[in-house]
Amino acid sequence: MADKGLLAMNEQHGAALAGRPAHVSEALVRDFDYYHLAGSEEDIQAAYAAFQGDHPDIFWTPRNGGHWVATRGEDIVHIQRTTTIFSNASITLPRPPAGTPRQIPLEIDPPLHAQYRRPLMQALTPGVVQHLEEDVRRVAIDQIEALLPRGECEFIQDFAKILPIHIFLKMVDLPLEDRHYLVPIAETSVRSSDAGERLDAQHKMGVYLQKWVAERQADPGQDLLSRLVNVQINGERISEADGINYASLVLFGGLDTVATMIGLFAKFLAENPEHRRRMVDRMEDDSFMKAAIEEMLRRHGIANTTRIITQDLEYKGVQFKEGDIILPPNLLVGVDDRLNADPFTVDYDRSNPVHAVFGNGAHACPGATLARRELRVFLKEWLARIPEFRVKPGTKPVLVTGQVNGILELQLIWP
Ligand code: HEM
Repeated sequence: MADKGLLAMNEQHGAALAGRPAHVSEALVRDFDYYHLAGSEEDIQAAYAAFQGDHPDIFWTPRNGGHWVATRGEDIVHIQRTTTIFSNASITLPRPPAGTPRQIPLEIDPPLHAQYRRPLMQALTPGVVQHLEEDVRRVAIDQIEALLPRGECEFIQDFAKILPIHIFLKMVDLPLEDRHYLVPIAETSVRSSDAGERLDAQHKMGVYLQKWVAERQADPGQDLLSRLVNVQINGERISEADGINYASLVLFGGLDTVATMIGLFAKFLAENPEHRRRMVDRMEDDSFMKAAIEEMLRRHGIANTTRIITQDLEYKGVQFKEGDIILPPNLLVGVDDRLNADPFTVDYDRSNPVHAVFGNGAHACPGATLARRELRVFLKEWLARIPEFRVKPGTKPVLVTGQVNGILELQLIWP
């Protein structure tokens, strides 16, 4: 597409377009804006996959400051695993204003990254998650039983967002009533297309956390927050400011992602009664449920973070320059037809669903075991009590795209 055509088209979103750098071939320019993707209000993953088909495997877009997009699983996984060339130094679009604090550990590259990540891995082992399961189950059951007699709910606010914040606040040992303040801030921080708004949300979170971080650094307990804020880097405890950034990232990383995935699973089951009934029938079969969850995850990828290219290089015939930004969208791995046959069909019996919903390599999600457990508890407890449900007639689920794609509203009814 010619630059002129793009310029004419751009005015619709009111954002400035970046000029095409000299090393970017005109043939590789496409109009891709991850905050405004045509068709994403119906199906986010299909809207992304429209850029696979006849388009180049790697293209450049002038949107959001100008960046590359890798569309095929093979390249996305390579980028995620090759941290020396594809740095995590800045993972958001558009790039944040200068002076924005680093998101710890996400915006730190190996080898230093491993030191920051260690307490997180220790705090989220399968054994610890097993221990948390009873809390997850109790919160889920209480919530579902409160909703059941109503025969309807707005699923995202009434259920999906409640489970992860309860579990997180328990893990960090902070007051449960603070969830009303924290959830909207966490959402703005990962979802807003405005870099200033995202920064403002991070600042508010910092102000909230400051007192707690200072307290846990002075008098550490056994909770996750105490472990994070007392991590030793090269033999020295991190500063209070870094402690705040670390705790904020873990909160941002674990709330909206889990809520969105629960919401997308509920939407899929509401719209696909045969899949729902099959799951209800096999709910007690652990290996079936494990495979079904993996397949649903494959189809419903959500998180997208960018990489900064650290050196001039040619990769698969494309010329990159040091400092270029590239987006390797996790969700495109799962719906890549070179890796998964008929990728838009959810097939619980698929033998090897390939996806990158939790990323790959050094930064792969440390919360994946917990997230899978929350999803499983939700499915079992919800389907045991509300096996029949559908989208409320006259309403439409509200989907949004961005750094973490989301589902903002889902009206459900049941008999
Ligand atoms: C369905 C839910 C979730 C999804 C889809 C998800 C997705 C991801 C992805 C794709 C990454 C890698 C990002 C990159 O490579 O740039 C990541 C990293 C991360 N996630 Fe998750 N996540 C989920 C749940 C959680 C939970 C429950 C927690 C915390 C309890 C969490 C905490 C983190 C943290 C701290 C990182 C950064 C790790 C690092 O940089 O080493 N996530 N997540």
